[in-house]
Amino acid sequence: MSDATTTPPAETTTETAATPLRVEGLEKRFGGIVAVDDASFDVKAGTVTGLIGPNGAGKSTTFNCITGALTPTDGEVYFQGEKITGMRPEQIANRGLVRTFQIARALSEMTVLENLMLAPKAQQGEKLWRSVVPGARQGVVDQETELRERVWETLEFFEIDHLAYEKAENLSGGQQKLLEMSRAMMTEPEMLLLDEPMAGVNPTLEDKLLDRIHSLREDGYTFLLVEHDMDVIMEECERVIVMHQGSILADGNPDEIRDNEQVIEAYLGEDI
Ligand SMILES: Nc1ncnc2c1ncn2[C@@H]1O[C@H](COP(=O)(O)OP(=O)(O)OP(=O)(O)O)[C@@H](O)[C@H]1O
Ligand SMILES: [Mg+2]
Repeated sequence: MSDATTTPPAETTTETAATPLRVEGLEKRFGGIVAVDDASFDVKAGTVTGLIGPNGAGKSTTFNCITGALTPTDGEVYFQGEKITGMRPEQIANRGLVRTFQIARALSEMTVLENLMLAPKAQQGEKLWRSVVPGARQGVVDQETELRERVWETLEFFEIDHLAYEKAENLSGGQQKLLEMSRAMMTEPEMLLLDEPMAGVNPTLEDKLLDRIHSLREDGYTFLLVEHDMDVIMEECERVIVMHQGSILADGNPDEIRDNEQVIEAYLGEDI
């Protein structure tokens, strides 16, 4: 193939770099329930963008459709200009779009260190031929050393290195959230979708988690954040997207959202 067919025009490259995630006309039905109803929005690179809305608004379903856990009924999702609709979760994660999950039960018996050693993508050691082909073995050893270093760096970054040999199930809720973030970072993502990362986290660990999100954003990472704590959303997000009954109700900066009549009405009775 020539360059002409593999390299997108410069304008497209700039545009997709500035707007890594685009969701167009997303719809997800569960039988008669329309959980996500013609939702369109995008997320700009290097931002922390909030996705908020009352309970049942469709936020988690939207995350599930973006990250491949669910197949949308209709609509498209683009990541860095590539259509990822209908791809498997691991295919999407391999492209750098990663969602934090609650820690899987099967992994909870393992130590924090083991959890992180298992997280990264593209481990050379898993490719058998590299271990048996003479000369390639050294590459595996080097990569394992490098992996260990990266694991320790990540543990230190999230300040859970003192828990390295602790079983994941013995960690507090907040520490498990930090472990979850650490595991996500080990996959070398470019964009992270965080579904209520502060839920059940004590104020000290919450500050630590927010502080880590800040410094990762400074490093160029992009975040889409679902969070019920309005103070966190209003303080941390440069942009807020509001969902209500499956649709996008508003999209703007925190001040615009706070003053938006429709948003206030949707949250009637709730403290925004
Ligand atoms: N697997 C499913 N089967 C049937 N209905 C579902 C399913 N998942 C979600 N729903 C419904 O879709 C709607 C949107 O749910 P969703 O979990 O996306 O909301 P949410 O905005 O994340 O809410 P919350 O803030 O409570 O987490 C709700 O009416 C919910 O009951
Ligand atoms: Mg939810």
